[in-house]
Amino acid sequence: MEEQPKEMEMVPTHVAIIMDGNGRWAEQRKRPRLFGHKAGVDSVRIIVEAARKIGVKHLTLYAFSTENWQRPGVEVKGLMSLLKTYLQAELEKMLTNQIRLECFGQMSRLPQDVQQILQRVIEKTRHCQGMRLNLALSYGSRAEIIDAVKCIGKKCSDGTLNPEEIDAIVFDNHLYSSGQSDPDLLIRTGGEKRLSNFLLWQISYAEIYFTDIMWPDFREQELKDALQEFARRQRRFGKTGAQVGVT
Ligand code: IPE
Ligand code: IPE
Ligand code: MG
Repeated sequence: MEEQPKEMEMVPTHVAIIMDGNGRWAEQRKRPRLFGHKAGVDSVRIIVEAARKIGVKHLTLYAFSTENWQRPGVEVKGLMSLLKTYLQAELEKMLTNQIRLECFGQMSRLPQDVQQILQRVIEKTRHCQGMRLNLALSYGSRAEIIDAVKCIGKKCSDGTLNPEEIDAIVFDNHLYSSGQSDPDLLIRTGGEKRLSNFLLWQISYAEIYFTDIMWPDFREQELKDALQEFARRQRRFGKTGAQVGVT
């Protein structure tokens, strides 16, 4: 199943994507924003499959932020309904393609029916080992960090954790992404050059790729373009070019 194009010597283990631009894509076509979100779901299907085929091991998609709850009620409702349909429709394909679903975010804020289907897909795909698909839903990085700090603080006060033992690994283990590697590549579609409260801790050393392409137009070729750009980057992690050995 895994097919790595020759020119792509270096496939990132973990790719994270801020899927932005659905609304503007629809507005450019004089259609309602939800029309853009629907087309965006098609991109999600295509990108999940393409990433799996290329050999990406973790794919994290920013689907709905804590801040997105402030959008008009009809848009939020429409997005939740699209999410439910997507999960219902994709379960079989996830099992066939060995994709394990995870959710990053405040799941309890999602509508009950969405929570149910989400739990079901998470349970059913728990054993899948081909690729991990993390959907960031009702996700905010600051909330995630605060929750982690609260949990660590509680353990310190009840004596189950020694404050001296807190290090980056302990902290990491209290995040939604616990047990997963940090993203190697962060892609943002839609032209904006900001992080919008996404994975602030985890992307410390990610390569960042901004593109003006709107999410509904971001398909397999656009993903390959991003991966090729990633392969050309020199990741130095604070060292010199000579130390990391590639010039
Ligand atoms: C991204 O597209 C999807 C979500 C945030 C849910 P937007 O809806 O933000 O699209 P633009 O940025 O308004 O074009
Ligand atoms: C970021 O997009 C969130 C998602 C893609 C889910 P937004 O459209 O909400 O971000 P801002 O408001 O432009 O920063
Ligand atoms: Mg946007």
